[in-house]
Amino acid sequence: MILVLNFGAQYAHLIARRIRELGVYSEILPCDVSLKEIGKLKPDGIILSGGPASVYEHNSPSMDRKILDLGIPVLGICYGLQLIGKFVGGEVLAGKLKEFGKKELILKKTGKLLKGLSKKEQIWMSHGDLVTKLPGDFEILASTDSCPIAATENNPKKIYGIQFHAEVAHTPKGTQILENFVFGICRAKRDWHISSISKKLIKEMRKAVGKNSVIMGVSGGVDSAVAATLLHKSIGSRLYCVFVDHGLIRKNEAGEVINFFEKRLKFKHFYFVDASQAFLEKLSGVTDPEEKRKIIGHTFIEVFENKVLELEKKHRGIKFLGQGTIYPDRIESAQPNKYASKIKSHHNITLPEKMKLKVIEPLKEFYKDEVRKLGKELKIPDEILNRHPFPGPGLAIRILGEITEERLAILREADCIFIDELKKSGFYAKTWQAFAALFPVKSVGVMGDSRTYEYIISLRAVTSVDAMTADWARLPNELLEKISNRIINEVMGVNRVVYDISQKPPATIEYE
Ligand code: XMP
Repeated sequence: MILVLNFGAQYAHLIARRIRELGVYSEILPCDVSLKEIGKLKPDGIILSGGPASVYEHNSPSMDRKILDLGIPVLGICYGLQLIGKFVGGEVLAGKLKEFGKKELILKKTGKLLKGLSKKEQIWMSHGDLVTKLPGDFEILASTDSCPIAATENNPKKIYGIQFHAEVAHTPKGTQILENFVFGICRAKRDWHISSISKKLIKEMRKAVGKNSVIMGVSGGVDSAVAATLLHKSIGSRLYCVFVDHGLIRKNEAGEVINFFEKRLKFKHFYFVDASQAFLEKLSGVTDPEEKRKIIGHTFIEVFENKVLELEKKHRGIKFLGQGTIYPDRIESAQPNKYASKIKSHHNITLPEKMKLKVIEPLKEFYKDEVRKLGKELKIPDEILNRHPFPGPGLAIRILGEITEERLAILREADCIFIDELKKSGFYAKTWQAFAALFPVKSVGVMGDSRTYEYIISLRAVTSVDAMTADWARLPNELLEKISNRIINEVMGVNRVVYDISQKPPATIEYE
């Protein structure tokens, strides 16, 4: 595996992605990870990411200097190279020669790191500081007109560095450089492939669970469906799946989920718990978004816990809690700044303290698209795999303000029409996520000869690669018109439909 240490780069994620695309497992950890932790992972190589700080700044992110002496090849990218420069007694020039965007890299020699590159290559720079001097055992491989050390290597010490970003598409030979490092220098094996991985995962789960049983909460979303299928293939009828209906799900959703797990996957132990009344009672009168999220999170745990306790009494062997956690769900802990502001408290099942279950997370190493590939390999139908993400708190965060049965019914109908038209027109597959939301204000309209005073429905459709940033989807006007007409004509209680054209940031995908 290749370990990526994160110094706060926007691109740390991309580095790990590129390495995985090369068929080698890669993981991101915060830069201050201990040597002991690194020792346990036995990486073939370590990549130091970029970052927005300056290495001489007070409290700038750093790492244990001894990482450079482990004998494991280290590649510093941008800030990573500047940190190496500081550690080995080189010179780092702060803030004088800022470079941003496409530049021309001029090679003096290829060395091991730039093998296969031409004399001149396009690269992408984004830095304020740069390394201007390194000790004599570092070979300078390339420069740009304003950056004297754009690529360097020290083969005896196994230390490498580039000032530019090899992981972005604007550096066309970037993948070649990463390949040179991963295979030519680190000698890593190309063994990260989805088909071998599903077999390996099934075996690992079987071993981990032993003769015991697993209980798992499922939602009908991609992650929990793939995780449950993997577990089912490992331990068969010793898997107990629970689907909690919190009353905040979409039209026909309960039926679809039951159908999928019971009829298609033929799960022997699938339990549907209708807890909608309990949830709606607790949410009655609540308008604050964080308060809603907290109530839903806590109630969910309560309901789930009660079901587990009931099942545990009947089936003694339940010792594990299965979860559909994926890699990006865990990635926040790899951020160097642990004090990043909390925008929304995401509701995912956390282990209730009373339960003495061990957590088992088959997908904790995977990105969403890898999960989809794994699902395909496991023959999970496309309609499940290509489903848009749906948040844990469901429609509660799409009804702004108070949640009532009436508002839920209106939103369900409007959302169903929107999704139906998107699917028919082929735009469902072209968007990351699409849904309707209900604004708790009424506006005046006219229908027939009478005045109406009804709710506003907002349509939101976004494109994105990872939900970290998102753009509003450019849906055709004719399609929007058709959707608006259908909603206003078919859904009682709505007389106005608007389309949301905000980007994330500064908006978010969901409304609350
Ligand atoms: P935001 O609204 O933060 O959403 O831009 C980013 C992505 O996360 C989903 N989301 C959630 N998923 N539990 C989840 O499992 C939650 O509480 C939650 N809140 C938002 C959202 O749908 C989008 O895909």
